[in-house]
Amino acid sequence: MTDSTPPRPLRALVTAGPTHEPIDAVRYLGNRSSGRIGRAIAGALASRGAEVTLLAGPGVAEPPHVRTVRFRTANDLDDALRQQWPAHDLLVMAAAVADFRPAAPAASGKLRRTDARLTLELEPVPDLLAGLASLTRPGQTVVGFALEPAEDLDRSAREKLVRKGLHAIVANPIETMESAEVDGHLVTADGSAHRPAAGRCSKEAFADWLAGMLMPMAERRRALGA
Ligand code: CTP
Repeated sequence: MTDSTPPRPLRALVTAGPTHEPIDAVRYLGNRSSGRIGRAIAGALASRGAEVTLLAGPGVAEPPHVRTVRFRTANDLDDALRQQWPAHDLLVMAAAVADFRPAAPAASGKLRRTDARLTLELEPVPDLLAGLASLTRPGQTVVGFALEPAEDLDRSAREKLVRKGLHAIVANPIETMESAEVDGHLVTADGSAHRPAAGRCSKEAFADWLAGMLMPMAERRRALGA
């Protein structure tokens, strides 16, 4: 390669939306994530020239110009991440992954109503981000999300950044989940915090600001192989 060869576009992998964990053939445990921020981040990275793959959960509409792979359960998402991550430079893990799932979902049919109480046994879902650590190479950039009550947001986000070995984390108040706006910020591994000049803004404006922060960070890390 000569110096004049333009670098290939950054390859970004974005996850968005909830997981649905089956209880039986027709019921599931889910959460209220709409996937709107993750979907908007995928679009914003693509419009800045990245090659983007979106792993989209149930109910998340496919954005234009973005290769989209669907998932339903945390297990599907784990499989898709393991398959896709090695070919990407930047991971933005905005999906709201279940922390617990039914331990023994009915394989077929539906649970019938009776007069007796029903106890569902739940098992923990492995931390998908932690599981990716062994597949992550120098030069790749991993960005997580922390969905936390506003009063404890920054402290919890910083704790998760360190515990999960991330390069950056988006601190996102729990109140954001059902709102069209977000009052979030980004904490990077050096401990610095960054927020959009607009402060509280639409999810789309936040995603555009975030893409503008993450692209140069990931480009720099890719170039350094760091
Ligand atoms: N995450 C993950 N695997 C899980 C749960 C979460 O990879 N089983 C990711 C999320 O996509 C997010 C980050 O971890 O990028 C933080 O998710 P969050 O739900 O805030 O944290 P948890 O790891 O679930 O920790 P806690 O339950 O203590 O808040």
